[in-house]
Amino acid sequence: MATLKDEITIGGMKLRNRLALPPLTTNYGSPEGKVTDAILRFYEERSRDVGLVIVEATAVQEDGRILKGSLGLWEDAQAEGMARLAKTVKGAGAAAVLQLNHAGARCHPVGGPLQGASPSGVTFNPTVPAFALNEEQIRQLVAHYARASVRAMEAGFDGVEIHGAHLYLISQFLSPLTNRREDRYGGDALGRATFAREVVKAVRDRLGPGAPIFFRLNAVEGVEGGQTEQDALTVAKAMAGAGVDVLDVSLVPQVTFQEVEGGKLMVASSAFPKDAPPAGNMDRTAEIRRAASLPVIGVGKMGVGSAAAEAVDKWPVDIIAIGRQMIADPDSAGKILDGKTNEVIACEECMSCFGSIRAGKPMKCKVNKELPGGALEPIRT
Ligand SMILES: Cc1cc2nc3c(=O)[nH]c(=O)nc-3n(C[C@H](O)[C@H](O)[C@H](O)COP(=O)(O)O)c2cc1C
Repeated sequence: MATLKDEITIGGMKLRNRLALPPLTTNYGSPEGKVTDAILRFYEERSRDVGLVIVEATAVQEDGRILKGSLGLWEDAQAEGMARLAKTVKGAGAAAVLQLNHAGARCHPVGGPLQGASPSGVTFNPTVPAFALNEEQIRQLVAHYARASVRAMEAGFDGVEIHGAHLYLISQFLSPLTNRREDRYGGDALGRATFAREVVKAVRDRLGPGAPIFFRLNAVEGVEGGQTEQDALTVAKAMAGAGVDVLDVSLVPQVTFQEVEGGKLMVASSAFPKDAPPAGNMDRTAEIRRAASLPVIGVGKMGVGSAAAEAVDKWPVDIIAIGRQMIADPDSAGKILDGKTNEVIACEECMSCFGSIRAGKPMKCKVNKELPGGALEPIRT
């Protein structure tokens, strides 16, 4: 019988158990995209028990930040703080993977030549008009991902994760909702995966054969006209072919629409709503594992009760990631590993974490009052 406490090797990385912290944007970075004391504290507390920590979406370019306090690795000056962060996670006994992202048209409006970058000019944010990228700009972006991946590995991370989910730039290319291109970057699911494939290949070229590369994808987009389960299988296979080692399988459970003057803008969610049961993405995650023949990470309310322990036994899923519950109680993973689920201080699924960061504030939690607030300074190195 498979248990959460089993050691496992994925992408060449030996993990002490099968629990992971998934990427969680905290908005605790400094306005320059640098690591702060608050970032170090957040990750230190959440690296004590899990086998793997995937650090939050880190921008490959200044104009690709989700929020003003998103971390960045677009310049060497950011590397020193990142090295402290990698050391903090690894010092606590977990493997450290850094998620690389460009938010595309879902970016924070700080300016920059690629602000609003998008496959076909679909706008998400009223203050960031989207524009359709030309081939030269796409090449520049591919190079930004590759450069940031080198900085991440030089800073001491064990691997990188390319963020291809939740309707940020790569996901905007993958989704038929946002990709209406007629060139080789558009068309069917395989055509829409061209940009993702080029990013992965460029990262693989720069990092060499041994470096673990993860790819986060949507197993489905829960909205009419969105990426289907079948599309996701095509993407998963294409990523395996491009050199990905591990698939981190998320989803967009729902998309809502915000009314603005002259139309409607999409608001994509990456977490199941309160009334959804745990493990709602596990069947699809297992299907993706079969199709791509790669190890997978499953996520989606897996911190509830015994969901995580049951999942590794029931589904062929290699790693279980626990997000919001680890925000509410950083000791959740340790308690779940020890079977003490009754001691977990439960996340109320109130979405204050999302609400606070969407409002541009440092992440807050209704249950966990220890999280930081106020201005965040870069660490002094
Ligand atoms: C506040 C918050 C920030 C998030 N930031 C990221 C992120 O930076 N990158 C990412 O891929 N997913 C992000 N997610 C999605 C989580 O990684 C995870 O997939 C989601 O919360 C579902 O897991 P859960 O039900 O255990 O919370 C975020 C989720 C929350 C709640």
